[in-house]
This record gives sequence, C-alpha cells and structure tokens, in this order.
Amino acid sequence: MSDSHELKIDACFSPYLYPVYKDNDSIVVIIDILRATSAICTAFEHGAEKIIPVATVDEARSYKEKGYMVGAERDGVQVDGFEFGNSPFSYMGEKVKDQTIVITTTNGTQAIEAAKNAYRVVIGSFLNITALCEWLISEKRNILLLCSGWKNKFNLEDALFAGAVSEMIAQMSDAYKCGDACLALKYLYQMAEQDPNKFLKHSSHRERLARLNLKKDIKYCLTHDQTRVIPVLHDGALIRLKALQTA
Ligand code: MLT
Repeated sequence: MSDSHELKIDACFSPYLYPVYKDNDSIVVIIDILRATSAICTAFEHGAEKIIPVATVDEARSYKEKGYMVGAERDGVQVDGFEFGNSPFSYMGEKVKDQTIVITTTNGTQAIEAAKNAYRVVIGSFLNITALCEWLISEKRNILLLCSGWKNKFNLEDALFAGAVSEMIAQMSDAYKCGDACLALKYLYQMAEQDPNKFLKHSSHRERLARLNLKKDIKYCLTHDQTRVIPVLHDGALIRLKALQTA
C-alpha cells in the first residue's frame, strides 16, 4: 500500500526496460493487444480454468507431451504441432471450457516472465479495460503498465492501450500521478481514440497480421469490454482474479 496520498501510474515500453521501472509495490498490467493478452482474456471469458504461460516452445512441447492443451505462436504464426496459435478466435467455444491451457507467444509470455515476481501481475486488453481500471483503482496501489512490444522494441498498439488505461483511470480518480511515459501515451491515445484502427493502420504488427489475413483478429482485439474477467498470475499460472479472491 502506497504511503503517500498520491499514487503513481507509469508505463514501460518494453520488457527490456522493466528492470528500470520495476518496484516491489506496483501492480503490473501485462499488455499485448495483438494478440496474447486479448487471447488470454477471451479464453477466460469462454470458460478456461487456468492458463500456464511459458517462455519457450520447448517448454510448451514438454507440456503437450504430458497431455496438456497447448497454444504456441512465433512471429504471428501458429507453431506446427500445437492446437492453438494466438488468435482470440481459437480460444472461443466449448473446447476451452474448464480447461488448463499452456501458451507461449513471441512477446506476451516474455513480458509475464519478466514481471513474474512483482507484487501482483494482471492481464490487460481492450476486451477487459473497464473492469481492469475499476479494479486497479479499488486496490489503491501504484500501477505499472508493461507493454510487451515486439521483440523488445516499442509497438504502437500496446502503447495505445496503456494510454487508454491512463486516460480511463484519470477520468475515474484524481489520486494518480502519471509518470512521463504514461503521460506521453495518454496524449497518444487522446489523438487516436476517435478511430484507433485507422491510427494503427501502418503499425508494424498490424501490417504483419494483415499480411497473414488476420484483420478479423485486429478488429476484435481493439473492441472494448467483451469481458469483465481479470486474469491474475498465481503460483506460475493465470487464473480468474475472482477465484483468487474467494480462495
Ligand atoms: C505476441 O504475443 O507476441 C503477439 O501477440 C504475437 C501475435 O499474437 O501475433
């Protein structure tokens, strides 16, 4: 619990920078809009029980050999031999209900790995943005918005979401002071909020996914409030926050 009357919210553009921003008190929000955190939120909304994020394809393969349901993506493409890639549409329907799913992605699971020892790690996407911001404010703790980026480089869609969270939290509460990175992303979001899809038109990963005929994924991942589930990291796996609170 922060002891100053003013809470802090900041943004980290890449897992590579996380050592500079990390502290022991903040709640870390993992952001990978296209598409890891969007896919994770979708899986929980469709009934998944638990999601185990792993950093490497080899780890994912060892879980598959043990009989787990596994999703693996690299460079936007589903890895051969796994049930799922990283499309949110793969994580809809009965097949994920009550399942434990293992996933590894190019960037999103790396960010989770980087922040795994933080006070609290939660998953953010446009799909759960309102529920996430309401909960963050209720916790009255410092917040760090960790953008997964693309292979440790800045990417526009994660930055946009971090800006959207900063904007929404500023509208909901005056208790937070924005760090410079967070302020920059809030201004960025204010420029884009009328039409984020258009604003992202030439972003690298959006163009990459479009080349892979995944425009449907892009549109869905930019949709607000498709779920009120907040995935939280607990004992190395992602579960519903509600399950943690009632445990
Ligand atoms: C990631 O986790 O690196 C991204 O979401 C990649 C993708 O899904 O295309």
